[in-house]
Amino acid sequence: MQATAQAQPNIALIKYWGKRDLERNIPAVDSLSITLDSLWTRTQVEFQQDLKDDQVSIDGKQDHHQAERVKNCLNFLRRKAGVNYGALVRSENNFPTGAGLASSASGFAALVTAASKALQLDLSDSEISDVARRASGSAARSIFGGFVEMPCAPGDAIAKPLLDAKAWPFTVLIAVTSTAVKHTGSTVGMQLTARTSDYYRAWIETAHEDFVTARKAVLTRDFEALAEISERSCLKMHGVMMTAQPGLIYWNGGTIEGINRVRELRQRGVPVFFTIDAGPQLKAVCMPEHEQTVRAALTDTPGVLKVLSSALGDGARILSNPSQETTH
Ligand code: PMV
Repeated sequence: MQATAQAQPNIALIKYWGKRDLERNIPAVDSLSITLDSLWTRTQVEFQQDLKDDQVSIDGKQDHHQAERVKNCLNFLRRKAGVNYGALVRSENNFPTGAGLASSASGFAALVTAASKALQLDLSDSEISDVARRASGSAARSIFGGFVEMPCAPGDAIAKPLLDAKAWPFTVLIAVTSTAVKHTGSTVGMQLTARTSDYYRAWIETAHEDFVTARKAVLTRDFEALAEISERSCLKMHGVMMTAQPGLIYWNGGTIEGINRVRELRQRGVPVFFTIDAGPQLKAVCMPEHEQTVRAALTDTPGVLKVLSSALGDGARILSNPSQETTH
């Protein structure tokens, strides 16, 4: 009863921030994302009859931080499969964990993919995505590759593929400005924002329109329109976070220098835009032919420690021969 899966983080261009239903973890707003290729989480799940409690390790270290969320997620699958065995969960990331690089998205996508296979549950991608969403909203999107949408209806939010990764190739450059674990996790941050920000209502009321605009830009391959609406959604999300009480500031100096650098590039005619999640890293999205220009500009930006790059990639998958997998 064991399986190993790989999933990649996704970066939201239209952001999700806020929950409509805390228990089922249904987002309050629609979101749209791109799944990456070269950053990954690989997770092995092994259910053992004589194991009472789940044991979780991340990057070789016993983890207690995510243990509760992992357990809830596995309980859901155990109930479906009618077993009560504990599981050994070993997870590895080839990028910093918990620092705003969407490790919870790839982590829970890989966990649910591996665990449902190990339990021989014959779940569709959509069902796997639904289970992953209960643990981390953004994980629902990492089950699919390329451009992914997650519209939310009153009782549900279902992630689904919007456009194949190869149909509109993008390069994402990630300017790492800190490797520290973020100070406020997203669930706590979302609740604080919903409770205390005067701007929260405006954020919720305008999110659907932004989603529709971005969806159209993707389907018509309109880079300029996607750039504008993505930056707006990102800045609105950070605006609503910053106006919580106390204000949530995820940025550092490097993040702001990065924003200015991307804007300078765009003014010079380089098709590139930025987005930032609940952390200080800046992600610059461009067409592959401009990768070198954008990389050089970000490498030269004060506060940027290093620049990672990735194409768009596929959704989560089972690794049949994990030891033979190549590392990017
Ligand atoms: O999936 P969560 O609960 O970690 O929340 C993710 C929130 C953002 O990354 C900031 C935005 C998004 O849509 O991915």
